[in-house]
Amino acid sequence: MSKDKPWGGRFSEATDAFVEAFTASIEFDKRLYKHDIQGSVAHASMLAKVGLLTQDEADAIHAGLAEILVDIEAGNFQWSVSLEDIHMNIEARLTDKIGITGKKLHTGRSRNDQVATDIRLWLRDEIELIQAEIRRLQAGLVQLAAQEVDTILPGFTHLQVAQPITFGHHMMAWYEMLQRDYERLTDCAKRVNIMPLGAAALAGTTYPIDRQYTAELLGFSRPANNSLDAVSDRDFAIEFTAAATLIMTHLSRFSEELVLWASAQFGFINLPDRFCTGSSIMPQKKNPDVPELVRGKTGRVNGNLIALLTLMKSQPLAYNKDNQEDKEPLFDTVDTLLGSLRAFADMMPYVETNKANMRRAAMQGFSTATDLADYLVVKGLPFRDAHEIVGKAVAYGVETGKDLSEMSLQALQEFSGMITNDVFDVLTLEGSVAARNHLGGTAPEQVRLRIAEAKALL
Ligand code: ARG
Repeated sequence: MSKDKPWGGRFSEATDAFVEAFTASIEFDKRLYKHDIQGSVAHASMLAKVGLLTQDEADAIHAGLAEILVDIEAGNFQWSVSLEDIHMNIEARLTDKIGITGKKLHTGRSRNDQVATDIRLWLRDEIELIQAEIRRLQAGLVQLAAQEVDTILPGFTHLQVAQPITFGHHMMAWYEMLQRDYERLTDCAKRVNIMPLGAAALAGTTYPIDRQYTAELLGFSRPANNSLDAVSDRDFAIEFTAAATLIMTHLSRFSEELVLWASAQFGFINLPDRFCTGSSIMPQKKNPDVPELVRGKTGRVNGNLIALLTLMKSQPLAYNKDNQEDKEPLFDTVDTLLGSLRAFADMMPYVETNKANMRRAAMQGFSTATDLADYLVVKGLPFRDAHEIVGKAVAYGVETGKDLSEMSLQALQEFSGMITNDVFDVLTLEGSVAARNHLGGTAPEQVRLRIAEAKALL
C-alpha cells in the first residue's frame, strides 16, 4: 500500500505495480549511494549546528549512515523498488536502524535539492578521475614524442602526402588537444561545484538553515543563489557531456589514424598484441579493435549529449520528473569516457614505430616540393613562379619515378638556373623538417622545447 511510502499520507490507493517499476530510478541511481550519504551526513551536521537536531540525534544519524555505507559496500543492502530511489531507500533503512530520529533527517530538505546535490558531488569526483586519465595519456604521448622526436613521416592534407613532419610533432598535436580537453573540464568543474542543498523542493525552507556551513562541509565553493534554478537546471551535466563529446571526438580522430597506420598499406606503427584481437576465420589477422571501438563509442557520447539537451529543453521551472532521465546518459558518458581514456593511456607507451616505412612514405609523395619553391623564393623568384617551376620538376619526377632529392643537380638546373648545389640541404627530409624552426613548427628543436614544457606541466 501507498501507506508504506514516505509520501503515502494523502493516498488511498496503492501505486500500480507497473507504474511503480516504471517510475523508479533505484536500478541506476543506487550508484549515487556514497554521495547521497555524504550529503546527508553534512545536512545532519548543519541541522545540529542550527539547533534543529540535538547533537545526540545528529550522532545517531551519522552512526546509522556509516553502517549503511558499510552494508551497501559489503553487498548487504536490500534495494527496494517500491522505495523508488536511492534517497528513500537510504532514509527508510536509516529509520529501520535508528528509529524515529531517522525520520528527522529530511527536515528542511527535499529529494529535489538532494538529488541535484548528489549528482554534483558524484560528477565532481568523476571529473577528477577523468582528468587523471587524461594526464596519464598525455604523459604517454610526451614519452613517445621524446623517443621519436627525430623520426620523420609524411604529414598529410586531404590524406595526400603534403610535407615531411616529425613523429614527435605529430604526437604533441594530440597532447595539445588533450590539454584543452583537460582545461575545459577544470572550467566545467567550477560550475559543477555549486551546492543546491537548501533549495528544498523549489522555494527554500522555513527553517533557519545555514547553507554556507553545509557548503563548506561538502567542499562546495558556495550555495546556489536561486532555489528554483538550483533544483531544476542540469546545465552542468550538459556542459560536462559536451566537454566529453569533444574528448571522444579527439580520441576518435586519433583512433582513425592508429587504424590507418597499423594497416599493411601504411605500416607506420605496430600496436601491442594485447590491445588487438584476431579473426575466427582468417588466421593472419591482427585487428586494431581498441581504437576501432573507441571510434565507435564516440557515437554513444554524442547521443547522450543530445538526450540531455532534449530532456532539458521544454521543462518549465522548477523540478520535473523528466530530470530523473539525466542519470543514465550521464553515467554512460562517464563510463565510456573513462574506459576509452584508460585504453589509450595503457596502450600508448607500447606503440612501436616503423621508421623505415614512414621514411619511405615521406620519400614517395614529393613531400619536399614546397621546400624547393621556398628555396627559389629566397634566391629572388616570386613565389608563384617558383610554384610553377617546381610543378614541372615534380611532373618530371612522376615520369621518371624519382624524388626531387634523387635528381642530379644538372637535371634540376634544367628547371631553373638559380638552383645550385646547396639545394640538397633543403630537399632532404631532415633539411625540410629542421628548416621549420619556429614556435609551433615541426623542427625537432622546437618539438624538444614543447616537450620540455609539457614535462614540466605534467
Ligand atoms: N529519483 C528522482 C530523480 O532522480 C529524485 C527526485 C524526485 N523528486 C520528486 N519530487 N519526485 O530525479
